[in-house]
Amino acid sequence: MARIAEQTIEHIRSNIDIIDIISQYVQLKQRGHNYFGICPFHMEKTPSFAVNPNKQIYKCFGCGAGGGSINFVMAIEKLEFIEAIKFLAEKYNIEIDLNTNKSNKLFSQLFEIHLIAANFYNDNLQSTKGQNIIKYLNSRGINNDTIKDFKLGFSPDNWSSLLDKIRKLKFSSESMVQSGLFINGKKGYYDRFRNRIMFPIADRNNKIIAFGGRVFDSDDPAKYVNSSETLIYNKSNILYGLSKTKDFLSKENTAIVVEGYLDLIQLYQNGIKNVVAASGTSFTDNHATELNKYVKNVKIAYDGDNAGQNAAIRAGYVLLKNGFNPEIVLIPEGEDPDDWIQKEGPGPLKDAISNSVNLFEFQYNHSKRIDDSSNALVNLVNTMLNEISLINDPIHRDLSVKSVAKVSKLNESTLFESMNKMNTKKKFAPKFETKPIPTNTQQYNLLEDELIQLCFSEDNKTRLFIFKNIDQNWIISDAIKVIFNEIFIHLHSDHLPDINIVMDGIKKSSHREKFSLLVFDLEKKNLSIKAAIECLKRMEEIFLKTKQKILREKLNQSTSEQMNSIIIEISNIQKSISNIKLKYTKYEQN
Ligand code: CTP
Ligand code: MN
Repeated sequence: MARIAEQTIEHIRSNIDIIDIISQYVQLKQRGHNYFGICPFHMEKTPSFAVNPNKQIYKCFGCGAGGGSINFVMAIEKLEFIEAIKFLAEKYNIEIDLNTNKSNKLFSQLFEIHLIAANFYNDNLQSTKGQNIIKYLNSRGINNDTIKDFKLGFSPDNWSSLLDKIRKLKFSSESMVQSGLFINGKKGYYDRFRNRIMFPIADRNNKIIAFGGRVFDSDDPAKYVNSSETLIYNKSNILYGLSKTKDFLSKENTAIVVEGYLDLIQLYQNGIKNVVAASGTSFTDNHATELNKYVKNVKIAYDGDNAGQNAAIRAGYVLLKNGFNPEIVLIPEGEDPDDWIQKEGPGPLKDAISNSVNLFEFQYNHSKRIDDSSNALVNLVNTMLNEISLINDPIHRDLSVKSVAKVSKLNESTLFESMNKMNTKKKFAPKFETKPIPTNTQQYNLLEDELIQLCFSEDNKTRLFIFKNIDQNWIISDAIKVIFNEIFIHLHSDHLPDINIVMDGIKKSSHREKFSLLVFDLEKKNLSIKAAIECLKRMEEIFLKTKQKILREKLNQSTSEQMNSIIIEISNIQKSISNIKLKYTKYEQN
């Protein structure tokens, strides 16, 4: 479908006056700043339909209808969004431009900045310092072809080398800010990556969207620094290396998952090419969904230390829940796949890959080594069954129980009975993981409403404060979630978010109605930074207390294995609660 250019929509928004349009359907009378009339969307005798010319929105206080001028045309002429644009364009003689569109432009600039950055870092390998990086990589067995192939690079030990380069080019300041490659400090922007070996991270279509940076000859305690999330980089579904390896995944119908950038590169160079890494984050459901497009089998080859093995088990359960039957590759204690290949060549690793073991068998042996008491065994099997009960497909679930029976040498029917009991328990238990709902919902909803209004504070600092401090998990109501999500990316810009752009981004009319109501009379609201601090403070506090309460309830129904981690979680939350005051004080003083 041809898309209407954002400029056209923008042009329509800025050239058409809502009073002019609505007057063609409703007789409006001015009262104060606003106009009133009889609502065209419901039967009424006294006018409760209001139009705000400053904000270019309408709101009916009788039936709840509301939105911007485009929404009004959609509702009254019964048109889809695009049809409404065409309708208005024709009426006001505005030419429709189908080619480029502003948000496409932002995206293409973000891709372009990343490509330029990757080339810049890569070119830096030719500098004197860069030669040391090449030597270092060579000493770790990475050859020059591979360096080129993965476009590895080096970020100079300088606060603004990339910034200076990008500034000279034609990019909008918005795309520079949104790229995440620059950090906004007290003295202005500076480069996120300095004095690091650079690993460009590409999406599945081989567009560079982020970087991982490894420390090099400095005592910086952060071994790796990764790009922050941006419009083009969603950590939870990007797999490092996938753009290069996806054909090999499909061909082998198997993916090998490793932990690190260098593991992946080393394996690839040594001919093990059906490999991906979930770099910079733990393995998520989205990663599993992504793998599911290419393979039916997954083998996890994480580090051979305790942390690596535990992470492998966690990743294994994520895969299990998503329909895979994952296997674990046994890596010797103290090695990672990269070290192992360097020491012994790819042979032993290849054998270990062929001899990978089923997740349950692996976990069983792993736990037995730590504690082989019968108490620990019961806990372990219960944890496994608990995870298995989350599998959707009943056949997959049954097969998994059978595997557990095999490794634990317990009776299958006992296991099934035990799991079914858990299931009934689960059904009646509150759904805590997803949504902690505060007891006083009404009061909480008011805070959420206020949050949206505060996003339109004239004061930059207030908006930036929200941008930096909000955790979107605090938002409970669906409408506010959707609305806030539309506003969020505008919050760290110097400009006030445009109500009509936000409005048009909200797809559901009931959500637009809610939004119109919230922003209709903003002038009367206190949108100071003080109010924002108070609002976020209360939201966070209520959120944490609710979560804590739910965990306490959960404690009563948990196995002793789960108990420990719940207690730790509860006390961590307690720490955060006690910290809240302190956390916000620094803003109050500024
Ligand atoms: N990682 C990260 N942030 C950190 C530590 C690790 O994002 N602070 C990610 C990186 O993708 C890294 C992987 O986790 O490649 C594995 O980390 P680790 O095992 O600590 O490092 P190695 O990959 O073994 O490091 P090296 O580069 O020395 O091989
Ligand atoms: Mn390593």
